Amino acid sequence: MDLEPRIQRKEARICVMGLGYVGLPLAIQFARLGFPVTGLDVNEERVAAIDRGESYIQDVSTAEVAQVVEEGTFHATADPDVLKKMDVIFICVPTPFTKTKTPDLSYVVAASEAIAPCLTPGQLIILQSTTYPGTTEEDVLPILETSGLEAGRDFHLAFSPERTNPGDSKFNVANTPKVVGGLSPRCAELAKLVLEQLMPEVHIVSSPRAAELTKLLENIFRSVNIALINELAKLSERMDIDIWEVIEAASTKPFGFMPFYPGPGVGGHCVPVDPYYLFWKSREYDFYLRFIELAAELNQGMPYHVLAKITEALNAAGKTLRQARVLVLGVSFKPDVDDARNSPAQRVIELLLSSGARVSYNDPRIAQFTVGRDVFYRDAQTLTSIPLTEELMEIQDCVVIVAGHKSYDYDWIVTHAPLVVDTMNATRGVKANREKIFRVGAPSPPL
Ligand SMILES: NC(=O)c1ccc[n+]([C@@H]2O[C@H](COP(=O)([O-])OP(=O)(O)OC[C@H]3O[C@@H](n4cnc5c(N)ncnc54)[C@H](O)[C@@H]3O)[C@@H](O)[C@H]2O)c1
Repeated sequence: MDLEPRIQRKEARICVMGLGYVGLPLAIQFARLGFPVTGLDVNEERVAAIDRGESYIQDVSTAEVAQVVEEGTFHATADPDVLKKMDVIFICVPTPFTKTKTPDLSYVVAASEAIAPCLTPGQLIILQSTTYPGTTEEDVLPILETSGLEAGRDFHLAFSPERTNPGDSKFNVANTPKVVGGLSPRCAELAKLVLEQLMPEVHIVSSPRAAELTKLLENIFRSVNIALINELAKLSERMDIDIWEVIEAASTKPFGFMPFYPGPGVGGHCVPVDPYYLFWKSREYDFYLRFIELAAELNQGMPYHVLAKITEALNAAGKTLRQARVLVLGVSFKPDVDDARNSPAQRVIELLLSSGARVSYNDPRIAQFTVGRDVFYRDAQTLTSIPLTEELMEIQDCVVIVAGHKSYDYDWIVTHAPLVVDTMNATRGVKANREKIFRVGAPSPPL
């Protein structure tokens, strides 16, 4: 039967390849609507967790997984043979970069190679992994066509970027509009139809390339604006101006301004990574994107600035960084999430260890944290989150807030820590003992 009525009747068999931060919420939403959903992942532990009805992703509760598994609308497997029986296949696998920051498409290639021998006429493949313009047509399509089937005629192919924002209590899969670009108008229409079952609005663009660039524009916009405010934050410190006060004031303008905030750097799977995908691709066109490298340089410089700030704070107390006890609070890549990938805390800790500081950390959501990478701190080591106690705070020389989780009691922290370096103005509400707080982007307390 044609795919369109199968989607409308919620009978289309949906496969989500890659059950991570992006794929698992998507699979659960379709399963909740009654679609028969299969999750396909190469990670056997994740497959086993789903079979037990358990979640391993912060934004999806175990109750939600258990419900759809029990109802029989969702199951997971590591066997790619299931792809043969699917109507719609979403690819949600990682797109990281290499050590030298070139795109690593190996997961997308592997997923496409798994689909090719299973491809059947009428199937719709939607790539969701963030990538450079051209991936769907230049990298995925030729692999799929090794099946002997032709894209746009025998099967459908589209790209639709993901806009998941982990830890966001307001926006989720169900209330965030999506963009889609199909290989043909029919591919786009079918992808729109399936996505419309979940999202309030699906916006079609003329090609997969336009959709691929849309996602990169969104993240480059963030990276560049964060870099701008990070640079202004450093200038503010020298000028004895509080950048946080300035951002608050500028935000009273009801048009033409959008606040971005300084911090210890950018992290996660998107903002520090995706711009490089475009930077790399642009060179094929004799084009060198200056904003991307400039923003990366400024953002990646922030952990070094945090180190300078810690040194300054210790100096003010007559101490040196070497042998100092430094407690890092929050190692996730942003506050209130359980994801520490590319976290700025990693570089901050590596720089501290390289300087001879004695480092420990606390993060309520991240029990263990591995640091240590070739050029920065050669001996990789895994640190374990330690419980916050008055005694622990009091034996520190400095406490550094890197991810300012909402769950922290900042009054308590400032009361018991001898010195606080606050990289994201998390202590803004603290009234007492402000002379102990050294904030990024703000004048230092008087000596
Ligand atoms: N995490 C986010 O907030 C976010 C937001 C927007 C876009 N994205 C993009 O979405 C994509 C996925 O990101 P994520 O954060 O969900 O990654 P993730 O690492 O959390 O999950 C990816 C999953 O894919 C699985 N996988 C790898 N190769 C596979 C294969 N060949 N077949 C089946 N499964 C395979 C992995 O085992 C893993 O479970 C990336 O391109 C990322 O840039 C992520």
